[in-house]
Amino acid sequence: MDAFDQEQNYFGLDLGNSSIKVAQLRELHGRPTLVTYGDIDIPENLMASDSQIDQDKVAEAVKQLANDANVSSKNVIAALPSTSSFTSIIKTPRLSHKELGESIAYQADKYIPMPIDQVKLDWAVIGDNPGEDELTVLLVAAPNNVATKYLNIIQKAGFELLALEVNALALARSLTVPTQTALTTMIVDIGTSNCDIAIFTGQVPQIVRSIGIGSKAMRRVISQNLGLDETQADQFMKKFGMQEDKIEGQVFKTLKPVVDHIVEEINKSITFFVERNPKTKIEKIILTGGTSALPGLPLYLANSAKLTVEIGNPWVNISYPADMQQTLASISLNYATSLGLALRNFVK
Ligand SMILES: Nc1ncnc2c1ncn2[C@@H]1O[C@H](COP(=O)(O)OP(=O)(O)OP(=O)(O)O)[C@@H](O)[C@H]1O
Ligand SMILES: [Mg+2]
Repeated sequence: MDAFDQEQNYFGLDLGNSSIKVAQLRELHGRPTLVTYGDIDIPENLMASDSQIDQDKVAEAVKQLANDANVSSKNVIAALPSTSSFTSIIKTPRLSHKELGESIAYQADKYIPMPIDQVKLDWAVIGDNPGEDELTVLLVAAPNNVATKYLNIIQKAGFELLALEVNALALARSLTVPTQTALTTMIVDIGTSNCDIAIFTGQVPQIVRSIGIGSKAMRRVISQNLGLDETQADQFMKKFGMQEDKIEGQVFKTLKPVVDHIVEEINKSITFFVERNPKTKIEKIILTGGTSALPGLPLYLANSAKLTVEIGNPWVNISYPADMQQTLASISLNYATSLGLALRNFVK
C-alpha cells in the first residue's frame, strides 16, 4: 500500500436523498484510519431535482458539511446512485488493456440501453482467471446529464471531482472483508428513495440492480392508507414497521406490498445468480441504509429470501479511536457508501 500522496488525498461523498455524508481516511500503521466524517440533512426531493437553484442548494450543503467536518482535501470521489447508472457484467476475449478499451467502446451499445453518445462509459476487469480464455469486465454507464449534474454540484461547492463510482461497489468495500475472496454475499442498501441490491463474490460484483423504493414510499402508503399526516406516518413506520403483532398488524399489512417489491427483486437476483452459478452458495444478505432500521425488517427478509440476514458494519475494515466505538456504531447504517468510497485507494 502506498502512502497517500497529494493526488490520492480525497474524501468520499455520498449525496443521499435525505442526507449528505462525507468520510475521510488515511493510512496509519498499514490500516485505513478514520480522519473525519459527518452528515447534513437535506430536504427530500432536492437531489432528484434538475433545477439550478436546487443544485446550488445541494452545493451549499456540501460546502457547509465539509467545513463543519473539517475535511482536509479538495478532492472528492462521489457515489453515483445505481438507479441512475447502467451496470453490465460482460465476457470478452483476452486482450491488451488498449485493445480492450477499443473493443468495449465499440460493442458497448449492445449492453447499454441508451445512445452511447449520451453516456459516460467506464469499465474495469473484475475477473482474470489465467486458466480461462475470457476476461470478465464490469461496464458502467452514467447518463451524461447525471454525471454533469454531480460534477456541477461538486465544482460549485469548491471541490474537484476525481471519480464517480457506482454505489454498490463502494458498499462492498466497506461491508465485506477483502481477504474473504471466496465468500458470496448479497448486499441490500435501503435508503430514502432507492434500494440497491447486489451480489458479490469477495468484493467482485456479480449482479447489480436497483429499484426506486425506500422509506419515502413506505411513509407515503402509511399516510394514505391509515389517514395520517407525514410526521405521524413517519412515527408509525419507525415504531411498528414490519412487526405483525403490533397494533393488529395494521402497519405491517400496509407496508407489506412495498417491502414485497424489494423481496421480489432480491429473489429475482438470487434466481438469476444461482442459474448461472449453480455450485455457488450465497452465504447471507448484508443489510444497510437508514431504512434497514425498520423494526422487523431483517427477520421478514430472512424468512422471505430464506437466507441469513445481518446488519452491515461499515467500520469493519477501519481503525478509529476506541472511545468512539458507540458513536460510530450508532451511525453504521448511513455510512456504508461514504466509507466505501473513502476506502477506494486502499484496495489494490
Ligand atoms: N427506524 C426506521 N425505520 C424506517 N426507516 C428509517 C428508520 N430510521 C431511519 N429511517 C430512514 O432512513 C433514511 C435515511 O437513510 P439513508 O441515509 O441510508 O438514506 P439516503 O442515503 O439519504 O437515501 P438514498 O440512498 O435513497 O439516496 C431516512 O429516510 C429515514 O426515514
Ligand atoms: Mg443512500
